Amino acid sequence: MGEQRKQGCGDIELLRLAEAYRAAKVVLTASANSLFEHLTAPRSLEELAELAGARRDALEVLLEALIALGLVERKDGRYVNSETAAKYLVRGSSDYLGSWLKHANRNFRRWAELDERVFLRYSEEESREEFLQALDVCARRRAEELAECVDLRGRRSMVDLGGGSGAYAIAFARRYGLEVTVVEHPDTAEVTGRILEERGWKNRVRVVSADFLRDDFGSGYDAALVSNILHFLKEEECMRLLRRVHQRLAEGGVVIVHGFMLDDTPRLQSALFGVHMLVTGRGRVRRLSQVRRWLEQAGFSEIGTRRLSESEVVTGVKE
Ligand SMILES: C[S@@+](CC[C@H](N)C(=O)[O-])C[C@H]1O[C@@H](n2cnc3c(N)ncnc32)[C@H](O)[C@@H]1O
Repeated sequence: MGEQRKQGCGDIELLRLAEAYRAAKVVLTASANSLFEHLTAPRSLEELAELAGARRDALEVLLEALIALGLVERKDGRYVNSETAAKYLVRGSSDYLGSWLKHANRNFRRWAELDERVFLRYSEEESREEFLQALDVCARRRAEELAECVDLRGRRSMVDLGGGSGAYAIAFARRYGLEVTVVEHPDTAEVTGRILEERGWKNRVRVVSADFLRDDFGSGYDAALVSNILHFLKEEECMRLLRRVHQRLAEGGVVIVHGFMLDDTPRLQSALFGVHMLVTGRGRVRRLSQVRRWLEQAGFSEIGTRRLSESEVVTGVKE
């Protein structure tokens, strides 16, 4: 990648480069806090949390990322070092690199101050518009893949709950000629409308300003999209939303739950997003099995799962 960067790199490489700090910090934190020393023998999560002096739930999130990075393995519900971790990250090994990682971890906080070191007017503030534009970068990249993977031929209408920039709504409207309603929170709906207008979709994608957990958002839809929503809701809110979706779909209507999700072999992007949720305190990445269960409990049948290049999809049908 170094060589490629000199000539200019592609969009995926640039996005990966911009987020490389996430994986780096996971490895530095695990090493600096002696996690690999505790994993020379298989440990249950409870045992490991006790030994390492860690919060159990937060440690589980970190371990998912370490598994995805190939440094920890999970066997029969117990965690143990991978070969790489055993060779380089356990104190006492002749190839031990951990002293440097511990040093690098100490410097990490200083690096987080780089903006202020260089720029006099740096601000952390983010407007709703900037937030939606940031999400839109990812949404536009994933929307076509999602619309292609869930076949909505023959359907007429779709509701997109918490539709953000409207990128998914546009992709489904374009591919299947659907009438799409984007439901957005009252503090964001105006921004969504503005972005749709700029893209020339204002007349074909309707925006409803409403709280999807409390307000009426219409009914009789043939499909409902719940994309990147469940990770920031509380568990009881997830159930409430999915039940409300079930009530408002037409018979035979399909629900599409999309986003980062975890399973027994976590993918790196999903696991690192889990750590992101942990550090920002905004929620947690859901497990595929849990989302399937929620859909069943909400009354859906024919539950199916599909894997996109980075994210996961769970669908269900209202009979
Ligand atoms: C993480 S973004 C996901 C946006 C888009 N669905 C996507 O996949 O990129 C969550 C969106 O849900 C909206 N939202 C959050 N809580 C909501 C609520 N209670 N009712 C309606 N919209 C909500 C937010 O304003 C935001 O645009």
